[in-house]
Formats: sequence, structure tokens, C-alpha cells
Amino acid sequence: MAESTKKAPAIIISSVGLVKEFRDFWNRPKAKAVNDLDFEVREGEVLGLLGPNGSGKSTTVKMLLGLLYPTAGRLTVFGKSPRDVDTKRLIGYLPEESYLYKYLTAYETLDFFASLFNLSALERRKRSEQLLEMVGLSHAKNRPVGEFSKGMSRRIGLAQAMINDPSLLILDEPTSGLDPLGCREVKDLIHLLKKRGKTVIVTSHLLSDIEDVCDRVIILYGGRIRAQGTLHELLTIEGTDRITTPQLPPEVMEKVLAILRSSLSEDQFRIDHPRMSLEEFFLDVVNKAQSESVETYGARSGGQIADYLSHDDQETAAKELLQSLTGSAEKKKEEPAPMEEMPPAIDTSKLEVLSDETLKAKAGEPPPAEEEPAMDYSEANEKLKNILSGSKKE
Ligand SMILES: Nc1ncnc2c1ncn2[C@@H]1O[C@H](COP(=O)(O)OP(=O)(O)OP(=O)(O)O)[C@@H](O)[C@H]1O
Ligand SMILES: [Mg+2]
Repeated sequence: MAESTKKAPAIIISSVGLVKEFRDFWNRPKAKAVNDLDFEVREGEVLGLLGPNGSGKSTTVKMLLGLLYPTAGRLTVFGKSPRDVDTKRLIGYLPEESYLYKYLTAYETLDFFASLFNLSALERRKRSEQLLEMVGLSHAKNRPVGEFSKGMSRRIGLAQAMINDPSLLILDEPTSGLDPLGCREVKDLIHLLKKRGKTVIVTSHLLSDIEDVCDRVIILYGGRIRAQGTLHELLTIEGTDRITTPQLPPEVMEKVLAILRSSLSEDQFRIDHPRMSLEEFFLDVVNKAQSESVETYGARSGGQIADYLSHDDQETAAKELLQSLTGSAEKKKEEPAPMEEMPPAIDTSKLEVLSDETLKAKAGEPPPAEEEPAMDYSEANEKLKNILSGSKKE
């Protein structure tokens, strides 16, 4: 009875017949990256988006963020077009490649992203410090992010995605480049975020990561959904049972075997010893090294979830906004987004500044050689501030 009266969680994302076709300069079709996707994501769900390289995961994510226009179909996020500005402050995004301004320190990076959400100086400092602690980078907070290893960049990218305490987190390959310790921490973090009622979409090629954190998965191939459902629905092998017990004394084992043999042939059952996963073993080894205080300059274990992320009034405020958005969406059916041009989804005046140097580095340029004239960070930061204050005035 109680079950039937329980209200289903709100629909956060709805996609109907979603298509994205990339065209060349002469408007000839180049690639149908996404082809007729129908799916929904509900509040509090952790959804895994899986598929081989080029199957359309990142293209789907970019459409959810309003960075790419669908060629056809209808896509809503919080009941609105993905380009709607109100919904953007409810979303945190970790891109496949982190676009960070390499001369800013880890702390300045978070402070900068926090300032885009108009947070007070005090709140910016509190959140930045807590997030640095949470992702295990407090000791490196004054180092420029350009010096960071791939895993350290990933950690600062994750912290950046959470600076606005988002209700929906979209994480494109969050564990890529992370050591097993970092992977475990990201997975624990996703569990904690879920407990707080956040909705999370994760793409990853690491199937064990997805299996550990996701309630439901969608598997894409060639831009189409090939399978979707809860892990239980998709992975349970029907018609088998598994019984796990403490190690049985030989006489008890003999009795069990006798019972099994009385109704099954030898090749129909198997008795073995469960073993720990390589992940569990690896974490055990690293934890021992840490408890012996072996020195490392890399990332360290992350700390507790940032306080502000579990702050009640923040949560209530986000929930109210979410309800107002989804509630109003129920009343008012929204027009599908026009499809002719690329949307100004993000303030590109801000992003260009951020991505210029990093893009070169991502394109394979080696990090600056020792003999390259040293950049004056304060000057670069000053320039950035000027540009930003200019763009804010617009
Ligand atoms: N800007 C673009 N212009 C042309 N084709 C594109 C563009 N972006 C993606 N594609 C094509 O769309 C298809 C899907 O790409 P997408 O990046 O969504 O895949 P993915 O599932 O994220 O892959 P990966 O696992 O490698 O990250 C690929 O064939 C890709 O070449
Ligand atoms: Mg991708």
C-alpha cells in the first residue's frame, strides 16, 4: 500500500528521439554521433553512460549541457531547454579534458570558478579550502595547476565541478588518469553525493567503476541505445543461486557435498574460495605505506566530503529551486530548442582565457622547457582578473 502511494522521484532529464549529426563545411553528413536516443533520468539516480570509443557519450553529455545543439528530437533538463540559464547553476560538469588556466594555483582556480557563481569572498574561501581537502590537494594548493600530474588535474577538475553545490553532476570520465586510490575516492564521493539526493551522470570505460556506483546504465553503440536498465535487471543471471558461508569444517562440507550430489551432477555446481579484488589489495598496500608516513609529492588521500556540500539550508534552497523548475515545467510544455546554430551556452569570453594555453598543452605541446622565460604569475593573474571584470560588466 505504502509503496503505491510513494511519489516517483522527479524527472530531471528527458530525451525523446534525440539525434546529433555532425556536418562538414559543405553541409554533407560527417558522423551521426547520436541516433534516436530515448531515456529519462530521475532525481537522486546515478546513471552510467557506457559505450566504446566514438559511441556518442560525450556528444550526449554536451547536448545535456547546451554546448551542442541537437539535430532533431527533444531534450529537457530540469524541465527546460538545456540552454536555459536558470538550470545551469544547478549543474556541475567535469569535462573529458579539464580546461584549466595553468598559471593559476589550485586555490586560485577554485576561487575563480566560485566567483563565476557570485559567491562572497568568505564563502569562496570556505568552499575552496574544503574542496581541496576533500580531493586530497590541500598540500598543493599554492602550486600552479600547469605543474599538476594528470590525476591531480582530474582531482582539481572534480573540485571545480562541485564548487556551486550542484543538484545534477555530469562527470565525463571522472576516474580517467586517477590512481586506484583516487578512483576509490571518486566512487565514495559519488555514493555520498547520491545520499544527499544529488543526481549524477557518469561516463567511464572502467566497467567496474560503473558497476560500483551506478543504479542504472545505458549502453551506447554507434550512437544508439543497445541496452538500458538497472544493474540488477541487466546483470542478474537467472536460474542460479550463490551461498557464501564461513569456512566449513570438513565433516560439514562432506554433508553439503552429499546433498548436492544427490540432486546435481558434478559439473552443475562449483565450490571455491572467494578472493578479494585487486583494488582492495592495492588499497591495503597503499594504506599501509601511508600509515608508515612514506613521503610522496603526488596527490594524497582525500578527506571528508566538504561541509558545505552537506549543509541543510543549501540543500533545501537547491531543492526548492529544483521543485519550482520542474513544477513549472509540468504546467508549461516547452518548445524544443531551435536547431540552426550553436548556442551561447557558456560565457566564451571567460572560457577562451582559460583554455588557450591548456588547449595547446592538450594538443601535445610539451610543458614549458626550463629555459623558457619564466612567466610572472601575478601578472598573468592580474590580466585574467582584468579580462574577467571586463566581461562581468557586459
Ligand atoms: N565536433 C565534431 N565534429 C565531427 N564529428 C564529431 C565531433 N564530435 C564528435 N564527433 C564524432 O561523433 C562520434 C561520437 O563521438 P563522442 O565524442 O560522442 O564519442 P564518445 O562515446 O565520447 O567516445 P570516447 O569514449 O572516445 O570519449 C564520433 O564518430 C566522433 O568522431
Ligand atoms: Mg567521450
